Amino acid sequence: MKGVILAGGTGSRLAPVTNIINKHLLPVGPYPMIYWSIIKLRDAGIKDILIIVNKKHLSSFIELLGEGEDLNVTLKYKLQQYEGKGIADALMAAKNFIKNEKFVVLLGDNLFEDSLTPYINSFQKQEKGAKVLLKKVKDPRQYGVPTLDKNSKKIMAIIEKPDKPPSPYCVTGIYFYDQEVFNYIKNITASNRNELEITDVNNMYIQSNQLQYDLLEGWWIDAGTHASLYQANQEIYNNMNMENAK
Ligand code: G1P
Repeated sequence: MKGVILAGGTGSRLAPVTNIINKHLLPVGPYPMIYWSIIKLRDAGIKDILIIVNKKHLSSFIELLGEGEDLNVTLKYKLQQYEGKGIADALMAAKNFIKNEKFVVLLGDNLFEDSLTPYINSFQKQEKGAKVLLKKVKDPRQYGVPTLDKNSKKIMAIIEKPDKPPSPYCVTGIYFYDQEVFNYIKNITASNRNELEITDVNNMYIQSNQLQYDLLEGWWIDAGTHASLYQANQEIYNNMNMENAK
């Protein structure tokens, strides 16, 4: 299976430093944020990885990571066509890299404790469709939020940033897709915030009865704000054996 890391976006909530540095290159523990996504994929056996970035930051990523030799992975890069047009728009850039396989997508600002291995294994067994990972959070309003039917273990719908969350769960930025995702992306239109929303794509999988989910067990943080970036640093320092991580 291949992996895709989305590391573009504007990082506006982390300004002013993100006016000059890509968010995913900011330090979390002893490493730039992007290292953690690469390590999670690599440790789950995924070494063929595409990083999707903005044009203005491409050279920084190449300078830092090269072709992945230091981290024992094979990295390729692809430019996100438009800056700030949404996760689904950025993901479209992975189409040629993926071809006809199932794959894993990580939002590069999502930091988490769980190993990806069990989720990848269960997705391998899933004949087709997609899988998302959910996490219970204090305030789901800033995320994609699922309505769950726990008896059938199904997500009935996902709402992006709802004022009144239908559940205490958030859809994390850890996604598992088959190649159908690219057809779904072609069929969605821009949201109110003028982005192609990954939530709309996931809702299309739900309508085809092909979206499965699991619950993440360990801590999970979207490190896209100053407060959550600080929290991610704390978790990494508190919970990880830093000497052995790399
Ligand atoms: C994005 C997704 C949202 C998801 C979140 C996880 O939000 O749109 O559904 O819950 O990532 O980090 P954004 O970072 O674009 O606000």
